[in-house]
Amino acid sequence: MKIPELLNCTQLEFESMRNDKEWFVVKGNGPRFKDYFSWKEADQYLNSYGLGGHNRMPQLQIIDKKTGRKYCHKKAKYKLQKREIFDKWWEGSSFVLTLSEFLNKKLWEQCRDFEEFFGRGQANIYMSSQKDARCFPIHADTTENFLFHVRGTVRWYIYNETEFDCKPDEATVDKVIDLEEGDLLYLPPKLYHRVETLGPRISISFHFHPPEKQGGWREEWFDWIGDING
Ligand SMILES: [Fe+2]
Repeated sequence: MKIPELLNCTQLEFESMRNDKEWFVVKGNGPRFKDYFSWKEADQYLNSYGLGGHNRMPQLQIIDKKTGRKYCHKKAKYKLQKREIFDKWWEGSSFVLTLSEFLNKKLWEQCRDFEEFFGRGQANIYMSSQKDARCFPIHADTTENFLFHVRGTVRWYIYNETEFDCKPDEATVDKVIDLEEGDLLYLPPKLYHRVETLGPRISISFHFHPPEKQGGWREEWFDWIGDING
């Protein structure tokens, strides 16, 4: 989906909103992102544990329910076994699939549509099995973020301050909003935020670094997993 269709506005209107460096929500009025990633694909991805991959293979990270620590499957010295990964899933850890734009063609095409405008970006999938899953604490990102709400409802806490203004624990809440399937949230860089899950959910972030930090090119679509995406 191109920007005007996604945001219900013209490219020029979006550029002016972007210059204001304000967050905004576009309601979807229906699950318009449902084909971006399904529970079936999530299951297939997690069951592909151990599959060797190219350098753009999605990387699994887990925000551990019990400790709050982040586990990165690629970097970890001690690799969790498949059974342990599923246990963490059902305990209420959140899973992050970074570099997920190659998981299916829909994600790849969306990334490419954004990249016509933003330069090279990346898609991350965030998914949790239940309410009150462990998520990242209050933080700010260096990238511009488009958050697609694909399945379930996510409660967002958006803060008044940016990373330039104060430390995360000093930030004050601007607004609490519940975003549903089909809704889109735009977050400018450096603005503090956090989420709570209200049930099982899948969200996707498409995000873009400032031009001076970009580089590289978008690789062609490659159907690396065949029929799995239907
Ligand atoms: Fe974030």
